[in-house]
Parts: sequence; C-alpha cells; structure tokens
Amino acid sequence: MSNSTHRPIGVFDSGIGGLTVAHAISRLLPNEQIIYFGDTAHLPYGDKSKDLIRTYSSEITNFLLHQKHCKCVVIACNTASAAAYEYLRDSYKGSVPIFNVIDPIIESVVADESIKHVGIIATKTTILSGVYQEKLSRRRPSLTYSALATPLLAPMIEEGFYNNNISHTVIHNYLEQPELKDIDALILGCTHYVMIKKEINEFYGGKVKLFDSTDIVATKLKAILEKENLLTDKPLGENLFYVSDYTESFEQAAKAFYGTAIQLKQQNI
Ligand code: DGL
Repeated sequence: MSNSTHRPIGVFDSGIGGLTVAHAISRLLPNEQIIYFGDTAHLPYGDKSKDLIRTYSSEITNFLLHQKHCKCVVIACNTASAAAYEYLRDSYKGSVPIFNVIDPIIESVVADESIKHVGIIATKTTILSGVYQEKLSRRRPSLTYSALATPLLAPMIEEGFYNNNISHTVIHNYLEQPELKDIDALILGCTHYVMIKKEINEFYGGKVKLFDSTDIVATKLKAILEKENLLTDKPLGENLFYVSDYTESFEQAAKAFYGTAIQLKQQNI
C-alpha cells in the first residue's frame, strides 16, 4: 500500500454548497480525512467568467495538493466543474485524480432508460457552458433536455431561505417555467440545491426523478479510489474546513449544509 492512501481527500466549492458533497463522502468513507476549501471570498461563482473561475480553482487545487498533500481533489461545485475540470484534469494527469460533480450525474441519468426528457437547473455559468447539454446528447442522443438558469436559488439558500414562504415562491416560479414542462427527471445542477430537494420533490408530487451530486458522487469517488488502490485502511483523523473569507454567518450556515457543527478556518489563497 503506497503512502498516498493515508493522505486526505481535497474537496472544494465556491462556498459552503459543496459541504453537501463532503458530508456524503464522509458518510460513505468514514475512515478518510477530508480537507474542505470554500472560496467564500469569491462567492458566487455562478455569474463569473469561466477564465476567472479557472484561476480560482487552480489556486485552490494548488493549496490542496501542495500544502495539504491531498491524494485526490473533488470539485464539489457544478460551476467550477463546468469551467475548470478539464483544465485541472489535464494539468494533473498521471499524478493525482481530479473528480467533478457533473459526470457521475450524467452517467446515472443516461443509465436510466425510463427517462426521456430531462430538465437541468443550475447557475448561469453552468447553463451557458453547455456542459450538461453536450454530455447528455453525446451519451444518449435520443434523450431530450431543457436547461434553465436559476440564479436566485444559490444566494437564496446561502442566506438560509429554504423551507419557507420565500423559497416556496421562488422555487415555484422557476419550476413553472415552460422550459421545464413535461420533464420526467430533473438534474439539480448546483451543490446548493440539495438543501431544497424536498421542496422541489413536493412541487412535482414525487413524480419527477431528482438527481443531485451527493451520494452519486461519493459512490463514484469510492469506486475510483478503490480501483487505484487509494482507499485508506485506517481512520485518518478529523476533517478540516477552510474558507477564504471567514464570517460567523458562514459558520452558522455551514452547520446546516454539513448536518453537524463544524469549525471553519480562514485561509488565504
Ligand atoms: N455551489 C455552486 C455550484 O454547484 C454554485 C454556487 C455559486 O454560484 O457560487 O454550482
């Protein structure tokens, strides 16, 4: 077993949305140690250019690999996955596996033959990148899809507006758009949206299959680390959580996203 097995898993997002992914990884792989980085100083990514997101993502990956010696990096953000995954994967080819949150969702959707028409909701940058649309039509040309940018959702959730009247109104307003008519599945293409999955499910009365990047991504990560002989054989210790701009309100919100209390540490990149 190589030394790499005892190194942590790096996970990053624009802010705290990726904590939903980190938590799913911890649930599935409790012996692994996660080093989480939330780029709260540059939040939100969802309306920034691909070039700028690529620059931020490179700096964070650099921190996770060179200062924290992670054995792999999970881009726990759809927007950063859309803007920076290929660049990071190619930059670290042959040395460290880089994971994105989009491909595992695509695999699950195309594997489900009962799905004929899938909707995608995500940030503006993710929708405009066309990554979901391109990958879905390449993997299953017979599938029809409709994509809708839902830019109010991530900031709304980050501010703690979910399971209340305001989130109800905003969610209904988006999901009632003609683009999302007659879908039989919906991709929640932003890691924040896990927090409103229940409300979305209620809107559809449970009749539309929902895909998000928590358990699907954790399962894919486990499979690849197993194949590469990178899973630890002993508990590696406490998970650590860094943000590029610490505020108490982020720490409080982080608790809701992660499910249990965690401490955020300030780290400049
Ligand atoms: N959580 C990020 C994602 O999955 C989006 C939030 C943001 O706009 O920064 O796309």
